[in-house]
Amino acid sequence: MALSILKISKKGYNKFVDDQIRNSLIDDFGKKHGMDHYKTYTFKEKKVLLGAKSGGKIIGALSLTINRGSARIGSFAVSKKMRGKGIGVALLGEARKMARMNGCEKLWLWTLPNMPAYKFYKKQGFIEEARLKRQWGGKDLCVMSRFI
Ligand SMILES: CC(C)(COP(=O)(O)OP(=O)(O)OC[C@H]1O[C@@H](n2cnc3c(N)ncnc32)[C@H](O)[C@@H]1OP(=O)(O)O)[C@@H](O)C(=O)NCCC(=O)NCCS
Repeated sequence: MALSILKISKKGYNKFVDDQIRNSLIDDFGKKHGMDHYKTYTFKEKKVLLGAKSGGKIIGALSLTINRGSARIGSFAVSKKMRGKGIGVALLGEARKMARMNGCEKLWLWTLPNMPAYKFYKKQGFIEEARLKRQWGGKDLCVMSRFI
């Protein structure tokens, strides 16, 4: 058989992978449980963007990506002059509330362990769950999380 490996379209990729995954889950778990797993597998993630505003201006923002029972905190920052006044904690509190409302039991994120934010997250009850060596421009990254 002549085989060629080449770039394919997103549509072709999605259709093929979706069919294969659905069928193998049904083979492995039976029709009912296979379809339950398939629905979880194809759950569409939801992105929530939260901001802290003062005088009509954004002074802090955070993104939250909700997917299958956990919510990942993405880019998160408070404007430099406003740091240390509890705005970060308030944003994180709202993120927790939002995650809980969407059925999540866990918040997680990745960060650089030598960044000041690492201590901030630790103070907010996050623990380091994993460290990925030389993952990001040659630097270590860590995954931090806390149950809600
Ligand atoms: C991390 C960040 C969002 C925190 O926001 P913030 O509004 O300054 O945080 P808060 O004022 O709510 O701080 C809450 C607590 O964390 C502590 N904290 C905040 N920044 C800290 C730091 N750099 N080192 C140690 N502790 C810190 C505060 O002392 C405070 O503790 P306390 O209540 O016991 O005094 C903000 O410092 C920031 O924007 N940093 C730059 C961007 C960044 O690193 N983002 C995260 C990338 S993963």
